[in-house]
Amino acid sequence: MSTGEAARIVVLPGDGVGPEVTSAALEVLDAACHAGGIPIAVEQRLVGGAAVEAEGAAISPETFERCRQSTAILFGAGGAPRWDHLTGDARPGSALIRLRRSLELCVNLRPVRVHPGLEERSNLRADVVRGCDLVVVRELAGGIYYGERGRSGEGPEERAFDTMTYSRAEIERVASAAFDLARTRRTRVVSVDKANVLTSSRLWREVVTDVGRAHPDVALEHALVDSFALRLVQRPRALDVVLAENLFGDILSDLAAALSGSIGLLPSASLPAAGQPGPALYEPVHGSAPDIAGRGIANPIGAILSVALLLEHSLHHPDAAARVRVAVDRVIADAVLTRDLGGTAATAEVTAAVVAALPS
Ligand code: NAD
Ligand code: IPM
Ligand code: MN
Repeated sequence: MSTGEAARIVVLPGDGVGPEVTSAALEVLDAACHAGGIPIAVEQRLVGGAAVEAEGAAISPETFERCRQSTAILFGAGGAPRWDHLTGDARPGSALIRLRRSLELCVNLRPVRVHPGLEERSNLRADVVRGCDLVVVRELAGGIYYGERGRSGEGPEERAFDTMTYSRAEIERVASAAFDLARTRRTRVVSVDKANVLTSSRLWREVVTDVGRAHPDVALEHALVDSFALRLVQRPRALDVVLAENLFGDILSDLAAALSGSIGLLPSASLPAAGQPGPALYEPVHGSAPDIAGRGIANPIGAILSVALLLEHSLHHPDAAARVRVAVDRVIADAVLTRDLGGTAATAEVTAAVVAALPS
């Protein structure tokens, strides 16, 4: 097949361990697509601090346009302490924030699994986490990340504010995605909010309840975010789909990483609402990990499993996605592990092992 018919993948490696884990993920994507006869055309561009230095903005207008025209975006990580003083569009994290909003990537899937053989690596007791398999569905294009904000005054009167705001339509589209996903899993949704205090959470709860009525086959439960955080570490196995607004979902998904043993294992997919055109973005949940960057020891599995999500949701090859997941499970079972999981393998060794384990 000619590249004209190939899916266009824009790769944005970014900063810190971003380039290390995206090149690992690309190796696996190439191998999986080659084995499955799936044509792709890959283009790499700068983002984050790397783009600030070379192009003067965290994401250039050209890169932004290439992303908009793509089938899918594979993102590494943006940001590092040396750019923390920057503000506005120069801030490395702003590229991701802009991409999510402009492309209306409102549905963020963050699956968390405790892989067989890694129970002892969890920060929690093995009997608490064994077999745990949940998905955080995080609202990603609204809420406090995008509400009105400001800073004024000086001295003790200096003040700053951010606003958490949601419309019914914004809640409906992400809630529908969570219920649809639950139908393909164990048909349970827990919706997380702070409805005892926040007005936006009260609307959230009403809308999710309405969407739940249209999905009577899915069991819906509402939970307050504080007690839910406790439940997430006390009884995680009972959880299936966890629906949360943008900020709560951000915090809870990092917390959920403690179940699996390392944040380096967690992938994510950021999708437009059902039926909406446009690219989706795939990235590991972790950041640029400046403390371990440049040493070839980052765990590539979160990025590799993000490729599995890309194969499933953007290239519509669930079979190829399943092969990547099987390969990852095999490598973990064979204890080819990076240091965050107590192993000694380098990023490149884990990656080569996954490629070698891909079923043909
Ligand atoms: P982080 O996720 O980068 O690191 C947290 C901890 O997890 C560190 O100890 C790190 O070494 C470890 N870790 C992360 N990824 C790992 C991997 N693949 N393998 C092994 N260990 C791994 O979070 P942070 O330190 O709070 O953030 C660092 C920078 O990254 C900040 O500038 C932040 O804004 C940015 N960030 C970017 C993204 C993104 O681009 N999606 C996400 C989170 C944080
Ligand atoms: C994430 C990150 C981002 C977020 C940052 C880097 C803007 O923490 O993807 O989880 O807060 O969404
Ligand atoms: Mn985060």
